[in-house]
Amino acid sequence: MCGIIGCITSDDCAAKSVYEGLLRLEYRGYDSVGISALGGGKIVTVKKSGRVSGLAEYVGGLKGNVAAGHTRWATHGAPSGVNAHPHCEGRFSVVHNGIIENYAELRDELISRGYEFRSETDSEVAVKLIADNFRGDVLAAVAAAAVRLRGSFALVVLCEGFEGFVAVRNRSSLVVGVCEEGIFAASDVPALPESADEITVMEDGDIAVITRSGAQYFDFCLNTVTRRARRVERDGFTADKGGYPHFMLKELNQSARAVEDTVEGFFRSVDLGRLRSLVSGADEIILTGCGTAYNSGLIAARFFGESSARVRVEIASELRYYPPKMSKNTLVIAISQSGETADTVGAVSLFRQTGAQVIAVTNCGYSAITRLANIVVPVCAGAEICVAATKSYFGQLAALYLTANVCADVAFAKSQLRSVALQFSSVLSQTAECECFAGMCAASRAVFFMGRGADYDVAVEASLKLKEVSYIFSDAYPAGELKHGTLALIDGDTLGIFVICQERTAEKCISAVHEVLCRGGKAAIITDMEAEDDSLDGVPVWRIPRVGKMSVFLSAFALQLVAYRTAVKIGRDPDKPRNLAKSVTVE
Ligand code: F6R
Repeated sequence: MCGIIGCITSDDCAAKSVYEGLLRLEYRGYDSVGISALGGGKIVTVKKSGRVSGLAEYVGGLKGNVAAGHTRWATHGAPSGVNAHPHCEGRFSVVHNGIIENYAELRDELISRGYEFRSETDSEVAVKLIADNFRGDVLAAVAAAAVRLRGSFALVVLCEGFEGFVAVRNRSSLVVGVCEEGIFAASDVPALPESADEITVMEDGDIAVITRSGAQYFDFCLNTVTRRARRVERDGFTADKGGYPHFMLKELNQSARAVEDTVEGFFRSVDLGRLRSLVSGADEIILTGCGTAYNSGLIAARFFGESSARVRVEIASELRYYPPKMSKNTLVIAISQSGETADTVGAVSLFRQTGAQVIAVTNCGYSAITRLANIVVPVCAGAEICVAATKSYFGQLAALYLTANVCADVAFAKSQLRSVALQFSSVLSQTAECECFAGMCAASRAVFFMGRGADYDVAVEASLKLKEVSYIFSDAYPAGELKHGTLALIDGDTLGIFVICQERTAEKCISAVHEVLCRGGKAAIITDMEAEDDSLDGVPVWRIPRVGKMSVFLSAFALQLVAYRTAVKIGRDPDKPRNLAKSVTVE
């Protein structure tokens, strides 16, 4: 959700380091891009609509040992060169990630004092406010502006006459890394050079003043604060497609490993005694997250079927404003690949204030939700660069399965996960089925995914993935609901994909397939059952390996592959779907 980066280097090619960092941050937004370089006491800025690579030809000409850059996911103001960051005023240049909620009021105030606004962004107030507060001391000007800003913001500020830069964090992630190339501050670790194996995670309300001699940290009242550097695991942060045509395919291929590594990470790093006492002490468990993370919560709620606690799944953006009445021992399980999703972090903060216990299930061990949680259950999926979540979903399912079984036979749960991980490759090898399903999706105006029980939860994720990367309209329904309204949408241009792996309701689902067929709709089935049904002649069936209740892993995997292949067939870029970005750090 916008990526920002600033650096000071020992050579005068800081802009090149920023450019390379932006390429690795592009998953956070890619509608416009800009870089400012500070050299010889002057700031030079280039910015453009479009992707980071659009700046390639200008980077060599941007000389200076200090630079800042931004890759944008538009919130206020259309994607355009003028709305692209950095925004400049006087001697200052600023890049911003987040949303400044009181920008309208600040803008009016600054206009009344004679400032002229060029863009439609909320961010431009930040640079003007800093310039307005400048009396010769950059740190003081930034702090005076920061206390006036409401909302979420990570800023990198360059100032002519100051050989370094200032970084500010409030509810938008920012990490500082020191390495041979220089000192960097960026929205996320992948933006830092490979050699930065120690990072300092800035806290909300921190200002970092970064010069050649190092980073010094202050709060908004200019008191010095101490922040410790920590080692960071860089494995898998490579922005390299590894021979695959897209990151999405590379990452789908890493799904089995995400399950295996998550199992390994669980037994290596989780305090099982503490986790057991949190789970067994809960009389209510709320699973929460957004998008695909929420979808993994839907399935996980079924993993907790044996628990005596009441289990519910809530969308984090709803939960934070409409919290249910809490019971005495509420346990919140917050699921987030990035650990930085504003809605999930907001929900967790709210529950922490009310005394609930929180488990964070996340792929990012230094993220905001890990700092709010009582305990972290790691997802060890490695860096996920494709905007759509793929392997992290399977890592989340594995982490949640172990958590749900921590008070039962967790060793057995581990062996079940290891067995299912071995079957991902069988699904990958079923390319004919995948092509057939993708061809049907590509030829349809709308695709409805249906199933019952846990198969419905898989359908929800399959539908999100397909619409996200192909832009084909799609929705998910419990198969029994079809006749209560959705059937009205069925015609020759619509496709129903049925997930049928729950024995208890298999026959009922087959009836729903007939309901679609006899109204002229198209249908396809994904199942782990052997039985053939003659009445369904002509309906493509994808038989995935039979793994009992672990079928959710394989059916969801198969349908994520279908989403990928559909997108490619119709010429979409699956790695960078339109209008979207990863790490949604704004509300
Ligand atoms: C879908 C997708 C999003 C994310 C959601 C939550 O493919 O990627 O729906 O799952 O934005 O993100 P995290 O897990 O980082 O909180």
